[in-house]
Formats: sequence, C-alpha cells, structure tokens
Amino acid sequence: MNKHFYITTPIYYVNDVPHIGHSYTTIAADTYARFKRFSGENVFFLTGTDEHGQKIKKTADKMGKTPIQLADNVVIRFKDLWTKLNITNDDFIRTTEKRHIEAVQEIFNKLYKKGDIYKDKYEGWYCVYCESYFADLDVGKEHLCPDCGRKVDKLTEESYFFKLSKYEKPLLQYYKEHPEFVMPQSRYNEVTSFVKSGLKDLSITRTSLDWGIPVPFDKKHVIYVWFDALFNYVSGIGYTYDKDKFNSIWPPDVHFVGKDILRFHAVFWPAFLMSAELALPKHIVAHGWWMIKETKMSKSLGNVVDPLEMIEKYTRDAYRYFLLREVPFGLDGNFSEEAFVNRLNSDLTNDLSNLLWRFLSMVEKYNQGLIKKVHVEDRYLEQEGRKAIENIKQYMNRFAFNEALEEIWSLIGKTNKYITDKEPWVLKKKGEEEELQEVLYNILSSLRLICFLISPLLPDTADKMWTQLGFLGKVTEKTINDINLDTEEVKVEKKEMLFHKFEEKIEKEEKINIDELKKVKLKVAKIISCEEIKGSRKLWKLKIDVGEENLRTLAAGLKDRYSPEELIGKNIIIVSNLKPVKLMGITSQGMLLAAEDKNNIKLLTVDGDITPGSDIH
Ligand code: MSP
Repeated sequence: MNKHFYITTPIYYVNDVPHIGHSYTTIAADTYARFKRFSGENVFFLTGTDEHGQKIKKTADKMGKTPIQLADNVVIRFKDLWTKLNITNDDFIRTTEKRHIEAVQEIFNKLYKKGDIYKDKYEGWYCVYCESYFADLDVGKEHLCPDCGRKVDKLTEESYFFKLSKYEKPLLQYYKEHPEFVMPQSRYNEVTSFVKSGLKDLSITRTSLDWGIPVPFDKKHVIYVWFDALFNYVSGIGYTYDKDKFNSIWPPDVHFVGKDILRFHAVFWPAFLMSAELALPKHIVAHGWWMIKETKMSKSLGNVVDPLEMIEKYTRDAYRYFLLREVPFGLDGNFSEEAFVNRLNSDLTNDLSNLLWRFLSMVEKYNQGLIKKVHVEDRYLEQEGRKAIENIKQYMNRFAFNEALEEIWSLIGKTNKYITDKEPWVLKKKGEEEELQEVLYNILSSLRLICFLISPLLPDTADKMWTQLGFLGKVTEKTINDINLDTEEVKVEKKEMLFHKFEEKIEKEEKINIDELKKVKLKVAKIISCEEIKGSRKLWKLKIDVGEENLRTLAAGLKDRYSPEELIGKNIIIVSNLKPVKLMGITSQGMLLAAEDKNNIKLLTVDGDITPGSDIH
C-alpha cells in the first residue's frame, strides 16, 4: 500500500480561544500538506485539541464550568477557525475521545510491563501554567518557573516514572544518524546539547488531580498531560481501532511545533516511542514566536491578535500570505497591522492582482477574450517559470515558505516587467498582430505557472486565477502539465479582482510645528466644586483653582460619566488660554482634557500632588 505522508500540528489547549500563534502553526502545516498533495503524495494531515490537565481544570473552575463543558465550547471555536481558514486536515483528534483514552492506556500498560515505567516518590516543583516539572536548581530561591516566570508549587507525591535516563544514549545516537530530525539546525543543536547534559527519569502520573486519563491498573493516578497529549499522533490514526490504517500512516513525516514545545517533541516523544517500539518521526520542525512590538501576546496586555477579525477584514489568503511571507519560518517575528496592510497593498494588490487584471483587460479588448494558437519563438518567461518551480520545490521541502514566496514574487515582477517592455498597446496600435499574439501567449503561460505555484500557499487566490484564465477543473501539477497552450485555444474571463487595496480609514492627522504647539497653554487645575447647570443634561459647572487670584468657571460635558464626588478634589489638565465661550448661560474659561473611546470618557490627571496652576510642558 502507498504509505501516507503524515503531517501533524500540536494539539491545542482548550483553556483559551485560538489566536494568531495557533493559526500560524496550522496554516504552515496546511500549506505544506497542500504542497505535498500537489507533488503526488498521499497526505494524511492531523490536528486536534489537548483537553486534560491542571490548566484546563483551573480555567473551567474559574468559569464555573466542568472541564468537558469548557472543552466542548472551545473545540467549536477551533474547528470553526480551521474551516474559515481553509484548512484541509483529514481528522481532528480530541484527547477526551474514547479512541485516544484507550490508546494511551494500552501504551502505558505496555511500557509498565516492559519495566520502562516504575512507581516511586516525586518531589519537586511544578508550574501549573506550563504543565512542567522543575528541579530545585531550575526554580531558584524565588521559586519561579524558568519558562514563564510564574510562581511554582512544591509537590511531594507517589508517582509513576518513565525511565527517560535509559534512552539518553539511544537518543544521542538517533540524532547523530538523523541530522534532519530536528529543524532548523539551530534547534537541533539546542536539543542535542540538552540531552548531552543528562536526562533524569520523568514523573508521568499525578494523584493530586483527577482531570486526566486514569492509570489503567492504579486508578488513583492520572497520567501526566504531556504523556497523554503526545500520543494523540498515534491514537488519531487508528492505533486501537484500525491497525491497517495505522500501519499505512505511521510514522509521522513532519510534526510542526512552536519552539516552546520542542523539548517535549524532540526528547520525550522519541524516547516514549522507542520504548513503545514504534518507528520515530522523520522531522520535528520548530517555528518561532509571534510577538507584538517585541512583547509576548497576553490577555492581560490586551494585545492578542484574533485571526477571525483579521480574515474578516482582509481575507484569509491575505492573512496566510502575511504570516508565511513576513518572517522566516523558525525565527521570531512581530505582528503589526501596518506591515500587514503594506503587504496587502503592495505585494498582493499592486504586484499580483493588478497583473492579472491588466492582462485580462488587454485580452478582452484586443482579442475578445481569446488566446490564440501562435508560433512562439521567445520562451523567456516560460523558462523563468520552470526554473522557479524547481527552486520553489526545494524551498518548500525545507520549510522556507518566505523564500518560496519571494521567488514567486520575483516571477510576478518579471512578468510585469515583460509587459512594460513589450508594450502590447503599442503593438496593437502599430498593427503588429503576430508579435502581439505571442506576447499575450507568453503572459498567459507565465500566469498559469504563477497560479500553480501560489496554490498551496494562497488556495482561494489560485482558484480565482485558474477559472479567470479559462482553465477547467482544479489547478494541480498534473493539470499544469496536461495543458498545452501550443495546441489549445484558451478563452479567458474577466470576473473579479484578486485583491483590493485596503485604504486606511484612520483620518489623516494634520501636522503642526513646535511654534503652533507652544501657543497652547496647558495647566494643572484642581476641581473645587461641581454644580448643576439649569436645563443642561450633559454639563457640570465646575469651579477650578488654576493658581490665580480667583477661581475659574468651566463647563464640562461629564454629567453622565462622573458624579460631583468623583470630580471634586481631582487635579485635572486644562487648556488655560482658550478664548472664553458662553455655554448654557455660563462663561466657560478654558477646556479640560479627557480621553474618549467607544464606551468611556476618562479625565486626564497628574500622577500625584502638584500645585494648582503648574504649567505642563
Ligand atoms: N497542548 C500543547 C501541545 C501538545 S502537542 C502534543 C500546547 N498547546 S498550546 O495551545 O499552548 O499551543 C501551542 C502551540 O501554539 C505552540 O507550539 C505554537 O505552535 C503555537 N503558538 C502559541 N502561541 C504562539 C505565538 N505567540 N507565536 C507562534 N506560535 C505560538 O502547547
């Protein structure tokens, strides 16, 4: 039987809804899966969710839900996002499914029987957030998690251990024989030096928790969430329920992971597999971390990027393009909407979308939509395209998605330049019919290859291109090779633009110079009293101290936001040299400053006590 090409993503925790980081791994895996299918591989692509463990239990408790209720809700969000992102996974495994629980228990039993799992006492530190154990040395005097910096808990309990130390030498041997096991190279070095520094046995059960898979022969223990989770790659393809399927898929060709979980995949996982006597994965590919302005995303900072929002605003292909193009796979990168919009406007709209549109418009205008059979001498574009295909295959095979896209864009650039150089509109005008037809033919031939090349990366765009270029069915390597433009006439159809420029809706700010700024006098003012203004629903009448002989009067539109008690005594900021205005019968001598968003108005104040009337520079 034709062995499947097996690709996986990590299974995502269900304590949080999906964000850009999760979508990144999944988009990369999907792109690679599509690319491999194109190359004729029989791909099996698995993703899923990791639903056991302390972290999920704690979040569920906080929300007043059971862990499974929480998981059921969040799983819907993940599945929905994968559909909306056009992800082509073949199955979705949840660790709370029967097929998974049975597989984990079966393997646990097997390893126990063979003596690789034994019972002992565990003493050490545990980070609930990272679901990781640490030695005294790792957590320091402050008892902080070396990975996330949170406080760790001390644990002493009976536990089953996995004999990880036994696999130190076999692992090192395996790394040596398979230098491409961990990619990129820098990560490979990181992993090997970690193992060289020595491996201790691993505690793999807990008695202090009940949200997990029970040890089959000792029900007061549940299996450590990472031992449980890693075996999704086995349980999700039929280990316990369809041996033939399992054998046709195993072992994995590529596990895509973030760098944060590399150790679990490149050290613990192969050791578990050696023990379970299962073949090892071919590649563990670790990518970098998406950050916002060099900082980690976090709910508390409110800077988490929501993939759904991005794809609704800019389309899913633009989102895929940005993630794969902006940062070399393996390195950390910064997500910024500004950079995103730049790529959308220049690469996708100016370079690609306009190229197709320009071409379709010319063919409609000059040729009633028809690309004729012509005698072609100049095959420069076609040759460039064929060369690009070979390079791109190599880039894709080493997960260099950004380089693949750069190469495609270079071909797009050459095609654009070809049009500018050949000036088909001049050929038309001069009546040089033969040359015009050859030029149109060449552009079509290049666009067809571009369409093929982008299809694993930007599948919607490729489909839209393919049909407008007048080809039937789906674009694949086979259809590309089957079409012979020398013998077939093609009728193109101009229907829709591939991308549209995103015009910033933010109002353009008028720039002022320093002299203009100096004209505005800002001062600190203390609110002394706050009264009603007869007949006004919005305004308070404030008396404020600006360090002058007399108090000033100010009308402030804060009535529905602040009560007099909240206002009196506050040191606020005012524009003190604004010409007085009459409002609802009172003369307002200045204007206070406040910040406003959709839901709130908040006064600007000073950070501590200061004399009323102080200048603000
Ligand atoms: N459940 C474990 C994985 C078990 S696999 C057997 C887990 N889940 S997770 O929900 O935390 O997702 C981790 C993965 O999401 C990371 O490895 C990475 O692939 C992706 N990312 C999460 N945040 C990320 C960024 N900020 N940037 C890039 N990817 C990151 O760990």
